[in-house]
Amino acid sequence: MSRSRNALALGLAALALLAATGVAAQTPARHGIGRAATAAEIRGWDIDVRGDDGLGLPPGKGTVEQGEKLYLQQCASCHGEFGEGNGRWPELMGGHGSLTSEDPRRTIGSFWPYAPGVFDYVRRTMPFTAPQSLSDDETYAIVAYMLNINDLLPAGAELDAAKLRAIRMPNRDGFLQGDPRPDVVAKGEPCMTNCRKEPVRVTSDLARKLGVTPNNRGN
Ligand code: HEC
Repeated sequence: MSRSRNALALGLAALALLAATGVAAQTPARHGIGRAATAAEIRGWDIDVRGDDGLGLPPGKGTVEQGEKLYLQQCASCHGEFGEGNGRWPELMGGHGSLTSEDPRRTIGSFWPYAPGVFDYVRRTMPFTAPQSLSDDETYAIVAYMLNINDLLPAGAELDAAKLRAIRMPNRDGFLQGDPRPDVVAKGEPCMTNCRKEPVRVTSDLARKLGVTPNNRGN
């Protein structure tokens, strides 16, 4: 074997070694930093409740009456005493029959399709300035009160996971089932040009009424 062949073999071996070390260096455990999350830490993040069937709802309960007190202390300043909304803060009740109008009012009673989603949302995000400060019992109580002001739970009621799952929200069937986008439902090649058969029709002129759509050039 010539000297140059030997040098080549040695060089290749060195390259292979470098590549192997490179792969090993990408394995996080070898960096010697961080540690596995503890069960308690994972529990702290694992708070989701599935919106429709309520999978993950915690044990606990609360009454409309308890909820009213908590709501007045922690929520009414923004959402109004009866969920009517203070100023421009979101309203949480009413709005029935408005969804197809020019001024749709999307509230718990008019818009939300499933009651467990309300629990998930409130426990995760509210009060706005102190999210995740409510206990499970407090959340059940506040949700009970909000369902009550939407005429979905009687004033003397107590709410728990089973009762929350059993509530049928008025807008339960108001959402499209499946994904209606043409490129998802179309079989074969999706249409990419001149796909609309009829001319485009303006169905709401709210933008013009509000004066945000210029009607002449130069406006
Ligand atoms: C400082 C004002 C403030 C306070 C206090 C507050 N919220 Fe809210 N809330 C908001 C804002 C702002 C939103 C809209 C957030 C968004 O769309 O991202 C909201 C949204 C909501 C919604 C969703 C409304 C919808 O249908 O889209 C619910 C339900 C709700 N809040 C409940 C509560 C409850 C219960 C409390 C008391 C525990 C509370 N909020 C306290 C400001 C507040």
